[in-house]
Amino acid sequence: MTEVRPNVTMIAAVGRNGVIGDGLTMPWHLPEDLKFFKRTTMGHPMVMGRRTFDTMGVLPGRRSIVVTRDTGWSHDGVEVAHSLQQALDLVPRERELFVVGGGEVYRLALPYAARLLVTEVEQSPPGSVTFPAIDPDTWVETAREAGTGFSWVTYERRDGARDAP
Ligand SMILES: NC(=O)c1ccc[n+]([C@@H]2O[C@H](COP(=O)([O-])OP(=O)(O)OC[C@H]3O[C@@H](n4cnc5c(N)ncnc54)[C@H](OP(=O)(O)O)[C@@H]3O)[C@@H](O)[C@H]2O)c1
Repeated sequence: MTEVRPNVTMIAAVGRNGVIGDGLTMPWHLPEDLKFFKRTTMGHPMVMGRRTFDTMGVLPGRRSIVVTRDTGWSHDGVEVAHSLQQALDLVPRERELFVVGGGEVYRLALPYAARLLVTEVEQSPPGSVTFPAIDPDTWVETAREAGTGFSWVTYERRDGARDAP
């Protein structure tokens, strides 16, 4: 059984149709949400897929852990992991870490996550990369704040993270 980790938060901006990207870029430009992302993740470790890293590079002030199957891959300023579990294990469990995408890595990380910070974007853009379904039996909405063209929504796991130490 996958062990939920109380220190794992996923953060994503998601269209009404579940789309988060087209594989290369973000489908929208929301400066207010980018500021939210920056102030929320600043100072915390971030875990991301190699393709997401390719789209955003090294973000200052945050430890970047990139997940790839390529054992030859490296990049200045980032740590490399070859599985999601290995990436999570690089961070002490008392330190909050953010999973920042993309679609493949969100799917891998969802069973471990204790909290989701979802920017619900009021658009349905084309794109092949999606956020996994948020099952209401598992997740409960605990906060919602409206922005311009989007809402910031917090979900927490209903059964808490009781499997974790
Ligand atoms: N809207 C948002 O909030 C948001 C956030 C982040 C990203 N995005 C968008 O999401 C898209 C990228 O997402 P994506 O799903 O294409 O890719 P991704 O999840 O960013 O990265 C996928 C890569 O992760 C590595 N990987 C996947 N599973 C693995 C495993 N089990 N073990 C080891 N490595 C593994 C592989 O890297 P290798 O190929 O190197 O082996 C794989 O190609 C972009 O369009 C980006 O703009 C949107």
